[in-house]
Amino acid sequence: MDLKQLNAFIAIAELQSFSAAAKATGLSQPSLSRQLKQLEADMDVMLIDRYHRPLQLTEAGQFFYDKVSSVLIELNTITSMTKRLAAPSTALNIGFVPSVLYGHLPEIIASLKQQNPDIDVTLKDISSYQQVEALKAGEIDIGFGRFAYQDSWIQQILLRHERYLVALPKAHPRAHTKELRLIDLADNRLILYHQTHLPVSTAITSVPTTKNGRPDNESLPITEPLLHLFAQYGITPLMTTEVSDLQVALGLVAAGEGITLVPASLKTVRTEQISYQRLIHENATSPIYLHTLKDVVHPNISNLLSAIYQVYEQRGITYRRQRFV
Ligand code: BEZ
Repeated sequence: MDLKQLNAFIAIAELQSFSAAAKATGLSQPSLSRQLKQLEADMDVMLIDRYHRPLQLTEAGQFFYDKVSSVLIELNTITSMTKRLAAPSTALNIGFVPSVLYGHLPEIIASLKQQNPDIDVTLKDISSYQQVEALKAGEIDIGFGRFAYQDSWIQQILLRHERYLVALPKAHPRAHTKELRLIDLADNRLILYHQTHLPVSTAITSVPTTKNGRPDNESLPITEPLLHLFAQYGITPLMTTEVSDLQVALGLVAAGEGITLVPASLKTVRTEQISYQRLIHENATSPIYLHTLKDVVHPNISNLLSAIYQVYEQRGITYRRQRFV
């Protein structure tokens, strides 16, 4: 069994066609088919059912695919990390979720560049979940996001917690109430925008509801941060709508479609149509994490961390200083 055979098998399994897999791998069809036959002969197991169109995996083939594809992804990560260890890049590639751009990111980058004029920084807007893959693939060196990851390749430090504010349409009866409680909001349509379980291209869709019109909790993962927060107070919002990002959510609030909760740094967005009010709950916060690989630590990471803490000090922001292990 060798890597060429495994890559041929993965391509056939994923594309379900010899011709598409040949095109993707750059092999001729006869050569691709030989690789697969050899792999099957080595294991004495039929992996692909050739009598079906499109091609299908046998039960054993499906098991082998599930296991071996994650091994190959790990191998790619190891290869890319080894190359980076041998030839560290001077450029610092940073991935960030859009919501942190409204916070202190611009100021932090300006301060980093001012103190390290030779540093070559690039910034890339990239969702939380894609950041993990981008770190492993070497596309970014640092990711700023709002979710903690459980991944053996990644280390993360919590930078700070940012208070959530309630975003309400200006005409809303509670638009001028200074300290709101979550229970005050339970009868509103809550607009959800976190990319915790949505496919990347998801447009506006309504959440499935039960007969009484409440969200169907069976089909809603508890990972959705706003629902999770409401659930901590025993509240299920009456109606919810899921959208693909924060800007769309604020657009819907401005249009009077509902309310949402956003990190406090967004309080200057669409202020002609939206009123932002504080919540009384101290734990109603959204965290900001810095993620990087465990084994390949970029030489400029400590400069970046110093720039972050310096901005926090200057702005009087509450944070707990942390270090990489
Ligand atoms: C912040 O607002 O605290 C922040 C935003 C982006 C990167 C680091 C920190």
